[in-house]
Amino acid sequence: AVPVVIDTDPGIDDAFALLIAASSDRLDIRGITAVHGNVPVGKTALNALKLAAFFGVDCPVAVGAEAALDGSMATMENVHGANGLGNVALPVPAKGFDSRSAVELLHSAAQEAGGALQVLALGPLTNIAAWLTAYPDDAALIAGVTLMGGSRGKGNMSRYGEFNIYADPQAANIVFDSGLAITMADLEATQYAYLKTDELRALAGEENPCAQLIGGLCDFLEQKGAEDGGKTLHDALAAACLIDPSLAGAVRARVTVDPQADARHRGQTVVEEDENGNVTILDKPDTARFTEFLRGCVERYEAA
Ligand code: BDR
Ligand code: CA
Repeated sequence: AVPVVIDTDPGIDDAFALLIAASSDRLDIRGITAVHGNVPVGKTALNALKLAAFFGVDCPVAVGAEAALDGSMATMENVHGANGLGNVALPVPAKGFDSRSAVELLHSAAQEAGGALQVLALGPLTNIAAWLTAYPDDAALIAGVTLMGGSRGKGNMSRYGEFNIYADPQAANIVFDSGLAITMADLEATQYAYLKTDELRALAGEENPCAQLIGGLCDFLEQKGAEDGGKTLHDALAAACLIDPSLAGAVRARVTVDPQADARHRGQTVVEEDENGNVTILDKPDTARFTEFLRGCVERYEAA
């Protein structure tokens, strides 16, 4: 199995990404690092800890950055609820947080994986940028970074900025300029990972331990009425394509982020198609295949 550290800000779609990653025997989750994002890091970290236990992942969970590199913080309670998980209450596990910081956990995981480490980054890129800055030699030990972020077209925060990049453009700039092998699930790709709540509810049968969690998240989405009551599972697409790249097409491009951009362009990923570019952008995933992939992941919890 491929060793991976998941950096995340759960987050409803982050929860689905963790469900997918935890269900797969192709991934060996070596750690989960929490970052500020959808809600403050105190909450994303607690959600990460609870979700790891809920999905049966036995790995260290470390607390990461509480703000962007420039000290700013953007949150999305309107989309993810005050607790970040659609106000669904999950049990608090007996096991607490790892004593290391997110950066130290990422550093040890890279050392231990001997060049094979994959990073799945599902929130603002603060922890990853801080890690690469603190331990530049670790870059040679990272086999790849799969991230959800950016957009080839419109943004969801500023006109062009997508949330994860918008929330820390300076960190994004460091990551995109790092020379690492980056795969990016941008908004143009993740729009195909939209499921209506009735489709989401149908993923888990009554006996499935995930049914209550998914049901609670759907209740929240329906009360909110946003996005037609359904949900674009942005982060889940990134996780799914790390496991099965055939779920989406791929476009090679040069991607840059200007950390000094004006308000209208804050968080914009400037994308030029280029065979020799620095990023592989996921392209036009098949919604039906993604849904069936997700169903397979959910069903594995029932069998377990
Ligand atoms: C991204 O922003 C967050 O709200 C989601 O969890 C996802 O990572 C989508 O723009
Ligand atoms: Ca996220």
